[in-house]
Amino acid sequence: MAPQLIQLQKRSMALAGVVMTVYLIFHMLSNLSFFAQQSFTNFYNWYNGGIVSWLVLLLMTIAVLIHVTAAIRIRKVNAQARIIDYEKHDKFKIPTVFVTLSIIFLFAFIVIHVVQTVLFDNAELYNELIQLFQSEIMVLFYLAGLFVLLMHLQHSLANVLQTLGKTSVTHHGLVWLGVLTLIGGFAVIPLYIYFVMS
Ligand code: HEM
Repeated sequence: MAPQLIQLQKRSMALAGVVMTVYLIFHMLSNLSFFAQQSFTNFYNWYNGGIVSWLVLLLMTIAVLIHVTAAIRIRKVNAQARIIDYEKHDKFKIPTVFVTLSIIFLFAFIVIHVVQTVLFDNAELYNELIQLFQSEIMVLFYLAGLFVLLMHLQHSLANVLQTLGKTSVTHHGLVWLGVLTLIGGFAVIPLYIYFVMS
């Protein structure tokens, strides 16, 4: 593949990643309104009232597809270029097969989650969530999905920082803080429903 084409793949992958991260922040904050039932219901009545939620879903589907196809192409080019493996790896190098499996799991998690929420009765969204997280299997499934997302975001953002030449402990600390806040904001909902509301 021509170097300009690889650059284009990398840029589109990063741009799709940024769009998804912005959505995740928005999604986490709107989900937190769960702790104020009336605000949650008002917000989702508005969100599902017109075409907004479908437009967001379309945008996210396009972003995921761009992100995944670019990642696969870049990985192929890298594998072809590196016929001989590195002699020395990072101390904490995770075997490629685990990375691949975790990405497949993350993708499956997102697809299952979207199918579940599309099948929800929009007028009963608050109760639908309470119903969903009565099941410990579902709580564990969501926590596992969130954990893989945490690792994926931490790793990708650390790579972006490295590309920008920012490798200090402070920058890495900030990435951890941001990612843990985001994932923690999601995780409190299944945990609260399962341990406090049930
Ligand atoms: C415990 C964590 C989560 C909860 C409680 C949750 C809750 C919800 C709810 C209630 C909806 C339906 C909204 C509607 O009716 O319009 C929804 C939709 C969606 N969620 Fe989540 N979500 C969680 C985590 C995630 C994660 C981690 C991702 C992505 C990695 C994600 C991606 C989506 C997408 C793409 C949609 C469809 C688009 C939309 O309606 O905004 N969610 N989620």
